[in-house]
Amino acid sequence: MNVDEIDTIAVLGAGNMGHGIAEVAALAGYEVRLRDINEELVENGYDQLEWSVGKLEEKDQLTEEEADAALDRVTPLVDLEETVSGTDVIIEVVPEKMEIKQDVYGEVEQYAPEDALFATNTSSLSITDLAEVTERPERFCGMHFFNPPVRMQLVEVISGEHTSDETLDTVEALAEEFGKSPVRVRKDSPGFIVNRVLVPLMNEAAWLVEDDVATMDEVDSTTTFELGLPMGSFELADQVGIDVGYHVLEYMHETLGDAYEPCPLLEAKVEAEELGKKTGKGFYDYE
Ligand code: CAA
Repeated sequence: MNVDEIDTIAVLGAGNMGHGIAEVAALAGYEVRLRDINEELVENGYDQLEWSVGKLEEKDQLTEEEADAALDRVTPLVDLEETVSGTDVIIEVVPEKMEIKQDVYGEVEQYAPEDALFATNTSSLSITDLAEVTERPERFCGMHFFNPPVRMQLVEVISGEHTSDETLDTVEALAEEFGKSPVRVRKDSPGFIVNRVLVPLMNEAAWLVEDDVATMDEVDSTTTFELGLPMGSFELADQVGIDVGYHVLEYMHETLGDAYEPCPLLEAKVEAEELGKKTGKGFYDYE
């Protein structure tokens, strides 16, 4: 499929990343179907998308007409068949667990058009293993956005073992249509490029506090002041979701070895369901 043939995009998962990716696609002029497993989740995602579009309008980055048109292009849905039938690209943004994602693909394959492209927003998992449960591994790749999608320029386009060059070219061109800068990741490796670097940074920051070397504030102020990063490591963990970082680390630990052992501080936050901005509390408070 050529990028010019793409009109309709399904985004599966209306959480933190899902609603942001749907927003980016709608702002770029695509018809978007935003789907989650129940009304409450999908409405919550749509409300956040609406909030974000409102912010862009408030800051004169969009006119009222552009904001309204983008919102009109998004259809919130729960029914999977209605969501994926007749779509050109299906972007999967469900929780970062191999079994959950593979279950979703098994179901989606029943309703998706034969020539539709499948793109996963996985942060770390093997594209080849995910593609294996579908009947279209050559039309399957990673399309990894960064949080918040509407503000972050980069998109990693990741090849699985069987992904065709045509699929990679089309998904890269789609990222460009979204106004993003794609980078192609040639080898399917845990965490790809960004998370292989970024998630250990969050983990090491947590180990510094766990080992009583520094306080959270000292680590965050040092990384922003001295390293020039836009956010401190704990602030960043709250932004992406502590659970997301933790699941990426668990997978990297399992596949790449002990250097990636998740710090217990992260695990404790996940168990307490203090996941960052999205729950109102993480390492910092947001209420
Ligand atoms: N939509 C619209 N507006 C948004 C928004 C969104 N999704 N998110 C935040 N804003 C708004 C805020 O509400 C705030 O508005 P007010 O000024 O009205 O209060 C404003 O944006 C803040 O923007 P600024 O430009 O003033 O602030 P900033 O210069 O700090 O930029 C940032 C914000 C772009 C998020 C910047 O801090 C940044 O780049 N942080 C690093 C983020 C990052 O590295 N993300 C990648 C994480 S890794 C990942 O996502 C991958 C993974 O798989 C784990």
